Amino acid sequence: MANKTVLRKAKIRIGVLYGGRSGEHDVSLCSAASVFSALDRNKYYVTAIGIDRDGRWYVQDKLQIIPDKDFGRKMALKKSGTWLVNHFEQKNKLHLYNLKNKNKEVIVDVVIPVLHGTFGEDGTLQGLLELAMVPYVGADVIGSAVGMDKDVAKRLLNEAGIPVVPSVTVSKQQWQDNTKIISKIALAKLGLPLFVKPVCAGSSVGVKKVKKKELLAKAMNFAFQFDARVMIEKAVDCREIECAVLGNETPAASILGEIIPHHEFYSYEAKYLDPEGAALKIPAQVKASLADKIRATALEGYMALGCSSMARVDFFLDKKTGKFYLNEINTLPGFTSISMYPKLWEATGLQYSDLLDKLIELALDRHKKKLEVKTEGI
Ligand SMILES: Nc1ncnc2c1ncn2[C@@H]1O[C@H](COP(=O)(O)OP(=O)(O)O)[C@@H](O)[C@H]1O
Ligand SMILES: [Mg+2]
Repeated sequence: MANKTVLRKAKIRIGVLYGGRSGEHDVSLCSAASVFSALDRNKYYVTAIGIDRDGRWYVQDKLQIIPDKDFGRKMALKKSGTWLVNHFEQKNKLHLYNLKNKNKEVIVDVVIPVLHGTFGEDGTLQGLLELAMVPYVGADVIGSAVGMDKDVAKRLLNEAGIPVVPSVTVSKQQWQDNTKIISKIALAKLGLPLFVKPVCAGSSVGVKKVKKKELLAKAMNFAFQFDARVMIEKAVDCREIECAVLGNETPAASILGEIIPHHEFYSYEAKYLDPEGAALKIPAQVKASLADKIRATALEGYMALGCSSMARVDFFLDKKTGKFYLNEINTLPGFTSISMYPKLWEATGLQYSDLLDKLIELALDRHKKKLEVKTEGI
């Protein structure tokens, strides 16, 4: 019998980015521990790259996963060496080398940014990865930036005919110059109670429920600590329903899940500080016809914001009227093994590590299409 040459597919080199310069640094450590552990080592070489709270990158030579009180485990972040990112060394790859020891280098074919919030989920990191021309998981620059900006997102959703909660957005300057008039207009238009939130933030940071008009200014000043624009929104007495979306041009929607906060709303405390802060219910108990409508709207919203790769689309379902509103689209949702996004896919039939395979495939596919686009000449 003739010698058979077995062609082995080369392993893809994955860089898992975690930590980062945002209020959600700690959550990212937990999400990344799950991602790092679940990536199939038969298919991938995996390098963990920690980003500290100042934004410095550190390739982790000896990675440690340590216990975490909320999510069971998290990545340690060891700050050693001075790592530089270079994208000219090899085309379409990220090349990291240690300034003091150039033999210590890492080459990455695909980046998985397991980073939540500012400088990770908001398009800035995505811009860097575009410049480096390296494929990456998660929405690209536009989808990430728009997903992070509750005001711009709302305008695009409105334009697409997707129901959103009525609101007013003001800048710090506008608020300082016209506090009385803005309060009057907001109260007349939206009534009480209200929600006040920073336009670009996440994890409920800076979010307050306002029940008395005298407390509006306090909530506004609190929110302005986290962004220069603040959204005042009508409060909806609602159930919180979430849908996981996956794909580039032809995305798919998962079955729905429900978050049941045990606090007055799904606050930072309920999300991260109180282990009993909220319950996840999968599938959400909603009528099949309504669930189908919500899932279809999740896909429409995803496309309207220019998302690709993945996103978790969050809805408010008004308890009294049965009407639903798209609240927000999270382009790098919580990714611990007990987080809603992977749990929804698991319940829909896609296991955690298969989900990672799919995300890597989508990243490579999107990148390939981007390379087909001319950037010079006519
Ligand atoms: N208009 C609203 N009506 C009712 N609850 C709201 C409203 N806006 C925010 N909330 C509550 O606050 C939480 C955080 O607000 P959200 O807009 O999702 O911001 P974040 O990006 O910080 O998650 C929601 O999950 C919900 O519990
Ligand atoms: Mg939210």
